[in-house]
Amino acid sequence: MSSFIQRCIAPDCQTEYQIDERLYVCSRCGGLLDVVSQDTGVDAASLRELWRTRRSSLATRDRSGVWRFREFLPFADDAEVVSLGEGNTPLYDAPRSADYCRLQRLRLKHQGCNPTGSFKDTGMTVAVTQARKLGARFVACASTGNTAASLAAYAARADLPCAIIVPGGQVSHAKLAQALDYGAKVLEVEGNFDSCMSVIRELSEDGSVYLVNSINPFRIEGQKTVAFELAEQLEWRVPDHLVLPGGNLGNSSAFGKGFRELLKSGLIDRLPKITVVQAAGAAPFARFYTERESNIFLNEEHPQTLASAIKIGAPVSWPKALRAVHETGGSVITVTEQEIADAKAVIGRDGIGCEPASATTVAGIRKLAIKEDEPVVAVLTGHLLKDTDYVMKYHSRSLIAPDGERLASNFGNAPIRVSASVDAIRAVLQQHV
Ligand code: F0G
Repeated sequence: MSSFIQRCIAPDCQTEYQIDERLYVCSRCGGLLDVVSQDTGVDAASLRELWRTRRSSLATRDRSGVWRFREFLPFADDAEVVSLGEGNTPLYDAPRSADYCRLQRLRLKHQGCNPTGSFKDTGMTVAVTQARKLGARFVACASTGNTAASLAAYAARADLPCAIIVPGGQVSHAKLAQALDYGAKVLEVEGNFDSCMSVIRELSEDGSVYLVNSINPFRIEGQKTVAFELAEQLEWRVPDHLVLPGGNLGNSSAFGKGFRELLKSGLIDRLPKITVVQAAGAAPFARFYTERESNIFLNEEHPQTLASAIKIGAPVSWPKALRAVHETGGSVITVTEQEIADAKAVIGRDGIGCEPASATTVAGIRKLAIKEDEPVVAVLTGHLLKDTDYVMKYHSRSLIAPDGERLASNFGNAPIRVSASVDAIRAVLQQHV
């Protein structure tokens, strides 16, 4: 195994820690931690070949779309991993979405096709593997739903008790149902995601629970491999733009780190511009990015959006996400509730189902000044079945935005009531063909 350490990302701190020190942030300055490889140089050509051949292996670690890239993960080569066969997600061509964005071509990397239906699994396999390695007795997270579902599943596989802390009444039933079925202790808190996050951080301080939110650098290690998989799917030619939703900002941090490591290792020759899209009502990062006059990151006290996965006002990983955006020359933008809802329905017309938070990407791409022939990849973070309530309301014209306005269903497709007669059905079909 190569040697790895943990290092504080604050430029004026950079304190280093052993790889198995159990901490989430720098104990000196409170900064976020990176896992850093101390290896010098890799042979890009043979690594590409090795990763390709692993795809046809029958071994769990080779088949996982995360552990297949284990040369870049901080574990011994024969480490016992907690895996549900995550990763290996499709990269779809989406011609209708491309048209909608006035592009010749748009590709969608569908992270909703993971074992629990969201991108969280790629990080959770690594975080729970680390939890077991550290001998953790209890794992926990705060969540808007997907991290919870993912942790619940991986903790069950690892036979580790787990608790998830969620904002009461604000998580989709589908996500809660997953966590309940996988046996997690589900704690519903009065308050929003940010209060859940702050309480779980405090709780984890004495070491009684192992925290697996994306502030945990091992989560980021797993999620960074999606950049590897994507680059491989594109035959190691990176797109000009990579667009993803922003909530707690772990995912954008992970893509930034993944592409940076690929570039450093000579596996790719440039970086894609990473653009983060937030819902306008829950956009502390976008505001910070555009109002550059201060160095102080102001949290949003009352974030509001129907895209409940990203209803977050105090994202913990913003310094890493900012680094990714700056390093790659990307940007941070916002989209409205109406734009999210319509983009989601357009993605659906491509035969691809995602949850509302994921649709911020296509809504955002439509607003970005991208030339029609520039290669663009959007990351869909969760599956359509994660939030069917939203979908049904949109198509039956009853989706109400947080400000009380009813959203237009510009691509609505409401069910049609019809009597059980051949003539009646034929009449309806004739109207629609
Ligand atoms: N999309 C979906 C479907 C999500 O569930 C999340 C985050 C994001 C995007 C944003 O990703 O936080 O890395 O910027 N969900 C977390 C959760 C917060 O608890 O499931 P991020």
